[in-house]
Amino acid sequence: MKLILTFVAALLCVGTLKAENGYDLWLRKHPANAVTITASKQSAVLAMAKKELTEGWLGKAGANIKLIVKADKDIKGDGFKINGDVIQANNDQGILYGAFELLRRVQMGVTTNNVLSNPSYDRRVLNQWDNLNGSMEHGFGGNSIFWHKGKDSLTVTDAERSRWRDYARANASIGINGSVIDNVNASPMVLSTPYLGKVKEIAAAMRTYGVKTYLAVNFASPIKVGGLKTADPLDPEVIKWWHAKAKEIYAAIPDFGGFLVKANSEGQPGPQDYKRTHVDGANLLADAVKPYGGIVMWRAFVYSATDADRAKQAVTEFMPFDGKFRDNVIIQVKNGPVDFQPREPFSPLFGALKKTSVMPEFQITQEYLGHAIHLVFLSSLWEECLKSDTYQEGQGSTVGRVTDGSIFPQKYTAIAGVANVGLDSSWCGHPFAAANWYAFGRLAWNNTITSDEIATEWLTQTFSPLAPTDQSLSSSTTDWHNGFLLPVKKIMLDSREAAVNYMMPLGLHHMFAAYEHYGPGPWYAPKGVRPDWTPPYYHKAEAKGIGFDRTSTGSNAVSQYKEPLRSTFESVDKTPEIYLLWFHHVSWDHKMKSGRTLWEELCYKYQTGVNQVRDFQKTWDNVKPFVDSQRFADVQTRLMRQTRDAQIWKDGVLQYFQTFNSLPLPPEIERPITTLKYIQSTPPLNIK
Ligand code: GCU
Repeated sequence: MKLILTFVAALLCVGTLKAENGYDLWLRKHPANAVTITASKQSAVLAMAKKELTEGWLGKAGANIKLIVKADKDIKGDGFKINGDVIQANNDQGILYGAFELLRRVQMGVTTNNVLSNPSYDRRVLNQWDNLNGSMEHGFGGNSIFWHKGKDSLTVTDAERSRWRDYARANASIGINGSVIDNVNASPMVLSTPYLGKVKEIAAAMRTYGVKTYLAVNFASPIKVGGLKTADPLDPEVIKWWHAKAKEIYAAIPDFGGFLVKANSEGQPGPQDYKRTHVDGANLLADAVKPYGGIVMWRAFVYSATDADRAKQAVTEFMPFDGKFRDNVIIQVKNGPVDFQPREPFSPLFGALKKTSVMPEFQITQEYLGHAIHLVFLSSLWEECLKSDTYQEGQGSTVGRVTDGSIFPQKYTAIAGVANVGLDSSWCGHPFAAANWYAFGRLAWNNTITSDEIATEWLTQTFSPLAPTDQSLSSSTTDWHNGFLLPVKKIMLDSREAAVNYMMPLGLHHMFAAYEHYGPGPWYAPKGVRPDWTPPYYHKAEAKGIGFDRTSTGSNAVSQYKEPLRSTFESVDKTPEIYLLWFHHVSWDHKMKSGRTLWEELCYKYQTGVNQVRDFQKTWDNVKPFVDSQRFADVQTRLMRQTRDAQIWKDGVLQYFQTFNSLPLPPEIERPITTLKYIQSTPPLNIK
């Protein structure tokens, strides 16, 4: 800490801070001290490591840093050791990650001696939901950095190459080593030869920083691109087509990572269209990429239009196939059993598939958490999931440990995050949304790191004054620590629970307005729409009570959890209240641990959520002296909007539930400021 304090102290003086647009993310430019770097060998990736150290060195002037690529039994995969001014790794990428870690440690004032750091997962992958026409599915940071429409859609400019390199650099700085560069709702065209030409260019740019390229593929590609009559995975022509396509890809991109597949889900084609199974489909693609070391990430996000509880369907569909997938197939499982909600219990597939590789999928883009308008630090959500105990192999079988190879041997371990990156000058829209990109990378590297540590790192790198031209109105580092770091970190660490409180507390889920998934829409249920695409399917509010009965008297989703969780979730008294309405249908006057009735508790939670965001506003206003005017005003404006919309969530949901229970708001709860009719008639009351 001493170094950073001295450094910050040297830079703080009276004045105003230089405006920043956020493009440099957590890698802001600053004057560096002189340093000499010697490396045990030469390579493109090592050259990047040297460049980073030379341009970013804040340690002792004149230091001599040695980069040593040499196998060491303690170092695993892309891991590294740092000892003073020496970085050692098994491979060049390990050196690059070690270089970024050394720079971070120096900047944070943390020890640089006896550091051994090994990644939790081998493949740490972003999933870009980028469409080939340049739009993004639930992207809030502008259009795609990879694709655009128009006659020149396949010509590549230097500006694009440079953006892709900057993207890869930001990823490498937090250990991310792969990117799926197109949407899971994949266009078959990405596998056409002209598009593969562009993929090759993208791969070349990202390779500089050790980021592998992957493609999301459409299962019907043999028909749509290959002109075949079928995409049946057992058809010899189809098999031949995929093998030839893999050969074509690897000839152009020898280090290509592999395929990501969304099959037989939400209308996407898949093996079931031919009465074949997920195993048939996944293994076909796995065999095609296997000779080149490629993998197939096959998604478990499936739910048919049946009467079965949607939350149960992934387990029902995938468990019968445990042990039947090739060893280069990894089943990609969303953190919760439904869909990236503000809070869900962990997916019961984690730990249940014992003979199949499984990888967690998190959503970095804030589809269900306020888009680029709400400040919500998602690290807390992911940390909660990774630390959840599945009990599958006894106590301590956390989601993290059942997926990272600690408990089950997996040929490949992996983790995916649905990216929030776009063409905006700040990449992610909200200045604090970049913290979620950062947090995903840090947790993918170390799945036991805390959100508190991540927030401290990100805030220090993103906001501490760095350039001599930066002038703060504040005068000391203690002021910065107490006046900025601590209060803003508190906003970040409280922000996810605040969002749960004002959107859907106590286990409520999927109460969003349709399509945009931003504002409240618990009433949305037009005739003819699939019931599990409407919120009443999930909250089941009626005159007597509310909640989804997933116990043995209901859908029995609890049976998919291992004991003692099964009995815990079966019992209304033992179920943690954060999941109460996920597992139980309870009466409005059900007594909560606080002594309040369920209805009073719900009102109290919504009010708490609104109050929390109001407090975030005040805290932010107080930190004005420590933030440049551009980022200060940007966050201030978005917080204003977040507060208004938190209020709309509270007013909309509570007034809607009152139409069932006719109960008054408890005396201490603030009265609505917007009528239900207005909220319902102004869908989605949101975005622009
Ligand atoms: C959600 C999201 C879709 C997305 C899907 C998926 O349902 O709204 O846009 O395609 O998840 O993960 O495949």
